[in-house]
Amino acid sequence: MPASAPKRLYIKTYGCQMNVYDSERMADVLAPLGYEATDTPQDADLVVLNTCHIREKATEKVYSELGQLRLMKAARGGAMTIAVAGCVAQAEGAEIMRRQPAVDLVVGPQSYHQLPELIARAHRARGERLACDFAAEEKFDALPKARRPGGVSAFLTVQEGCDKFCTFCVVPYTRGGEWSRPAEAIEAEARGLAAQGVREVTLLGQNVNAYRDADGIGLAGLARRLARIEGLERIRYTTSHPRDMDDDLIAAHGELPALMPYLHLPVQAGSDRILKAMNRGHTAEAYLRLVEKIRAARPDIALSGDFIVGFPGERDSDFEATLDLIRAVGYASAFSFKYSRRPGTPAAAMPGQVPEAVKSERLHRLQALITEQQGAFNAAQAGRTLAVLFEKLGRNRGDLVGRSPYLQAVHVKAPASLIGRIAQVRIAGAGKNSLAGEAVLETA
Ligand code: SAH
Ligand code: SF4
Ligand code: F3S
Repeated sequence: MPASAPKRLYIKTYGCQMNVYDSERMADVLAPLGYEATDTPQDADLVVLNTCHIREKATEKVYSELGQLRLMKAARGGAMTIAVAGCVAQAEGAEIMRRQPAVDLVVGPQSYHQLPELIARAHRARGERLACDFAAEEKFDALPKARRPGGVSAFLTVQEGCDKFCTFCVVPYTRGGEWSRPAEAIEAEARGLAAQGVREVTLLGQNVNAYRDADGIGLAGLARRLARIEGLERIRYTTSHPRDMDDDLIAAHGELPALMPYLHLPVQAGSDRILKAMNRGHTAEAYLRLVEKIRAARPDIALSGDFIVGFPGERDSDFEATLDLIRAVGYASAFSFKYSRRPGTPAAAMPGQVPEAVKSERLHRLQALITEQQGAFNAAQAGRTLAVLFEKLGRNRGDLVGRSPYLQAVHVKAPASLIGRIAQVRIAGAGKNSLAGEAVLETA
């Protein structure tokens, strides 16, 4: 369909990186209809909220945002189409339509290729305005092949869904079962990105290391294929499950220079009793042994994790076991959350729900420990020379911001011509969240 007058599109993204990728792809689907991105909802013809269902707060945000959008839409005499996408759309699409009549359409994560049709139906004000089927394969086949990456580093979804059913988690219900894209399609997408100046890809999946395509290619095999692409210097992936961290992938960390020495490997808790109740499928000891194995293959690898405090039945001693595990591993960074009760998940109905005050106190203590470890990890880089991939201009004049192999932000005084290139940088100082580079020694 040829574009008429340009229409303005505002997409707001909540949640994980997979939503960030999906939002980019929605923009790609809508571009041929004449939609151009705008960064405020006020003047947008189409507003898309790409939502997250993972914790109660994330879900609440959506309804309050919709309340504000309703007023904006009314002030413009209704000349605004409001779409709700993402995991809240999938989980409670019908309820969204009921609770907020200003919403024109609801589209689940596997149905973004249907957006043009859904928008047309919404404008005709008839027909089905809710699309929430699970059809990952169909989606990827139907999405436009061409992407318009905005920068040096890009996300690339390789796997969707989850079969693990951790008892606290909504993802298996919002994203469906595990499904992997064919390696060939991923390689083609990565080549296209590299040709447009992308130097780093982060492969995404709810269980990215469970990746295995119909030809039996696993994540290690995929990484080896991508590492051969001209211009693609760095490969990362997230999020991994300890149970899917196989020997081949561990070996790849030792053998592929392009595979960056940073691994997000959530463990959630350090008490076997809680791990069992969470249905994580491994013990604390097994996780520690796994970390040892990974470090044997790639000694400098930086580890990060996710933690939940206050899971039902968590006692002081269980929480102490989590702190012990954190001390034993030594993380470069971590995300931590108070357990949030999600309707329909097994843990929501478990006895021994932990009082909010106890959760807050535990979260505070856990975060203090992580902050300490993160500070120590950053401080240990001072005096070293690191390969930095420069991504963009910094906030101060003459500053560039790049990333170390360990995903740390590095601020350096350097010419803008270095953006998109990797240079050796001497690290002069370290802060809580970033490093300061002193001099660019040579370009690679
Ligand atoms: N697939 C990833 C996690 C996806 S969700 C994995 O298994 O590691 C991201 C993080 O949100 C989880 O690792 C967990 O720490 C947190 N999370 C998920 N459900 C939660 C809940 N009900 N309450 C609090 N945190 C939760
Ligand atoms: Fe959720 Fe567990 Fe699946 Fe991760 S592995 S998405 S925490 S069910
Ligand atoms: Fe949230 Fe869905 Fe991602 S629930 S964390 S947006 S998979």
